[in-house]
Amino acid sequence: MGRQVDEQIVHRFPVGQRLRVLDVGMGQGTQALRLARAGHMVTGLEQDPDMLAVAHAALAAEPAGIQERVRLLEGDGRETGAHFGPGGFDVVLCHGVLMYVPEADAMLAGLARMLAPGGLLSLLVRNGDALAMRPGLEGDWNAALAAFDTVDYTNRLGLEVRADRLADLTATLSGIGAPLQAWYGVRVFTDGTEAGESLPREAELERLLAAEDRAGRTDPYRGVAALLHLCGVRG
Ligand SMILES: C[S@@+](CC[C@H](N)C(=O)[O-])C[C@H]1O[C@@H](n2cnc3c(N)ncnc32)[C@H](O)[C@@H]1O
Repeated sequence: MGRQVDEQIVHRFPVGQRLRVLDVGMGQGTQALRLARAGHMVTGLEQDPDMLAVAHAALAAEPAGIQERVRLLEGDGRETGAHFGPGGFDVVLCHGVLMYVPEADAMLAGLARMLAPGGLLSLLVRNGDALAMRPGLEGDWNAALAAFDTVDYTNRLGLEVRADRLADLTATLSGIGAPLQAWYGVRVFTDGTEAGESLPREAELERLLAAEDRAGRTDPYRGVAALLHLCGVRG
């Protein structure tokens, strides 16, 4: 993910430009802090006060120069208009959030409004075109068969959430003035890996990441990835 975001930034903005980044639903702030370390000005918006506290603690451990570049706010990604003026950001990240938002189009339109012309909207969503893959590879045939006809699923935390289909989001992005410019698959080979499972040794991890990276940008593999990373650009 980080590599894909960096690649899009390099592709779309002059080298060395200090970008204004908004990370909606930033969670513990992994991407927000990474982009601040890269020199950008980052605003994180998070609705869960506990998660926000974790992000604040992570930020407090950073050097002062990086802390100065980060602003963390409690708030709902569906109400960005209440927090920020239009066109104030070069990059808006919304990673791993859409699945929790029932009517996502209005929120996406709000995020597109936050972008300056040429700004990048980076979305990470559960792939609604490949929901049968996880149960199918686990041999759960009833669940696999049911998954073909729905975008609703139960995530690993046991929550009822929603996946999104590439064609639907492509249409939405066009409709909100931030048409899709690039997309990647994420977790093509490693969706079966459990959270907390220990990582492979360094050399093997490198090969795993290289294989994932290649598959994530190659048809037909990327189309059955567990997650989709969509990049829209404000016209
Ligand atoms: C799966 S985590 C992803 C965190 C981070 N973006 C990442 O990619 O690692 C989803 C986060 O989105 C937050 N979230 C969900 N709905 C939200 C909303 N409507 N507004 C703001 N944050 C939201 C959750 O509290 C959680 O911290």
